Amino acid sequence: MRVHALFLLTVFHLGPRLGAEEPAITLLYPRPGAVHELGMASVSVALRPGIADRVRVMVNGVERAAGEVRRDGACFVVPLVAGRNEVAVQATMGGQVTGDVAASVFRRSDLESQYRQVPEGFERDRFHQRSNDACGQCHSLSAAPIGQKPAAGDGSSCLSCHKKLAAGVWVHGPVAVGSCLACHDPSASPSLSVKEPVADVCFSCHQEQRDLWRSKKYMHGPVTTGKCTICHGPHSSENAFGLHKPTWYLCTTCHEDRGSGKHVLGHSFSTEGHPTHGRPDPRRPGKEFTCASCHDPHASNVPQMWVIDAKSPFELCGVCHAK
Ligand code: HEC
Ligand code: HEC
Ligand code: HEC
Ligand code: HEC
Ligand code: HEC
Ligand code: HEC
Ligand code: HEC
Ligand code: HEC
Repeated sequence: MRVHALFLLTVFHLGPRLGAEEPAITLLYPRPGAVHELGMASVSVALRPGIADRVRVMVNGVERAAGEVRRDGACFVVPLVAGRNEVAVQATMGGQVTGDVAASVFRRSDLESQYRQVPEGFERDRFHQRSNDACGQCHSLSAAPIGQKPAAGDGSSCLSCHKKLAAGVWVHGPVAVGSCLACHDPSASPSLSVKEPVADVCFSCHQEQRDLWRSKKYMHGPVTTGKCTICHGPHSSENAFGLHKPTWYLCTTCHEDRGSGKHVLGHSFSTEGHPTHGRPDPRRPGKEFTCASCHDPHASNVPQMWVIDAKSPFELCGVCHAK
């Protein structure tokens, strides 16, 4: 029965519009074929008055958001996985499906090599390059002066759409105070883009780290690219330090072989290998033992990126193991 109703609706949508009847549901955002850099996307729909009392949003077939209809529209933010995401929006009235729309979007990722390239048919969409009058009816879209000065919580108008960016176990200092324009320049082209390389933007506040790391002999491969965002989310995260994944999983995304269990001791002392996670860190009380217990993720004076200037692996062992 439901399949039948959906079929009729689809025919209605594709067929020529007779008279002035609006479609039951119109997808205002996302744009089909848009490329997203973050792990979430905004979804906004307009509804023909009286057509629906509830809207649900599915991503790759799983319900990710749902809510009541407000003023003949509904807005959500849904999580995206790296790669292709099918975003489907369904309007219901008294539990009956009254309309649906869908769009495919692509989440690009510098961290996961298989999702670094944008596949054919997908294109970067710059939302703030447009006037977005439809959104402006209910939201303020002007960038100044809000966001320039720290403003707690809802004080930044950016948060009326982007508040989920500031929700997480870890929230970055400037994001927590609504200082979006500390990094996003409304006068840049495209509007609100972040200056490149991103490292320069990060170092404008983190000068201490810049000076320390530049004083070292070696820099870690990904750090030399100037893309701190390969590993760090700039806004908020479920992980400490805003990392895209907990440290061990982050490192083994690129250094898969080091997570095999054979690392450090696997070839000499025993077949078990040295642990690389899941224990307390003897060097840093209160922290988990990870790759970063022995290696500095940013810079070091030794090519193996050890956390101390050890001349041999055995000198490194002494940091945690008494001789
Ligand atoms: C009919 C009025 C209306 C229109 C038009 C509208 N919105 Fe919304 N939107 C709202 C309301 C109300 C909220 C809830 C605000 C809040 O909770 O602070 C909201 C919230 C949002 C959110 C945050 C949702 C969340 O769960 O965090 C996003 C994203 C959003 N809108 C995007 C858009 C975009 C993009 C457009 C234009 C394509 C748009 N909106 C048009 C009324 C509207
Ligand atoms: C009407 C809701 C709305 C408001 C208000 C809003 N944005 Fe957006 N913004 C969006 C949507 C929708 C996108 C597309 C990405 C997505 O799905 O969230 C976006 C994308 C962006 C991007 C990526 C570049 C682009 O143009 O697509 C940046 C950066 C950004 N917003 C920053 C801001 C800042 C800073 C503010 C406050 C000055 C702000 N936004 C206010 C809805 C909004
Ligand atoms: C510390 C610098 C910094 C601050 C502060 C910051 N951002 Fe960002 N933002 C970035 C960077 C860098 C990117 C690009 C992400 C990437 O390269 O992976 C980005 C990306 C975005 C995007 C997604 C763009 C896309 O490509 O899809 C949105 C939306 C956004 N920012 C909104 C905001 C809002 C809203 C605030 C304030 C609450 C804010 N940002 C504060 C640095 C920042
Ligand atoms: C506008 C200033 C500003 C900019 C720009 C900025 N940060 Fe921050 N950052 C802060 C503040 C404030 C804190 C919180 C105080 C602290 O712990 O140092 C912080 C904290 C951090 C932390 C956690 C530090 C800790 O010891 O817990 C990380 C990681 C971080 N920032 C990374 C970045 C990255 C990556 C960028 C560039 C995308 C960046 N920051 C850009 C101001 C900034
Ligand atoms: C290869 C991944 C990676 C890259 C790239 C990276 N970081 Fe980090 N960063 C980490 C990890 C992992 C930690 C947490 C280390 C720990 O557990 O002590 C961290 C911690 C930090 C901290 C807080 C601790 C500290 O050392 O002061 C800051 C600030 C920071 N990073 C800033 C940056 C900036 C700025 C850039 C770009 C120049 C950058 N990171 C690039 C992985 C990375
Ligand atoms: C985005 C991919 C990426 C991530 C994530 C990453 N690395 Fe690397 N790492 C590299 C690249 C690229 C090099 C340079 C390799 C080369 O020059 O052959 C490198 C080099 C190294 C080296 C020096 C050895 C060498 O072959 O030059 C060590 C040690 C290292 N990484 C440890 C780590 C640790 C620990 C983490 C987690 C904090 C981490 N890496 C996260 C890509 C990554
Ligand atoms: C107990 C300390 C320790 C831990 C934990 C550790 N490493 Fe190592 N790592 C070393 C030592 C010692 C070497 C040099 C000897 C070797 O290659 O086995 C090394 C070498 C490396 C190298 C190659 C550097 C070169 O130039 O040969 C990479 C890459 C690396 N580690 C990544 C990682 C990653 C990723 C993790 C987490 C999964 C990790 N390490 C955990 C001690 C450690
Ligand atoms: C950053 C701290 C750290 C460094 C550096 C380090 N280890 Fe370990 N090591 C550990 C931890 C933590 C364990 C796990 C202890 C446990 O399970 O209680 C461990 C376990 C071991 C074990 C297994 C025996 C046992 O006690 O379970 C051996 C053997 C060992 N390490 C040798 C080395 C050698 C050789 C080096 C230098 C190449 C080294 N370690 C460097 C922290 C470290």
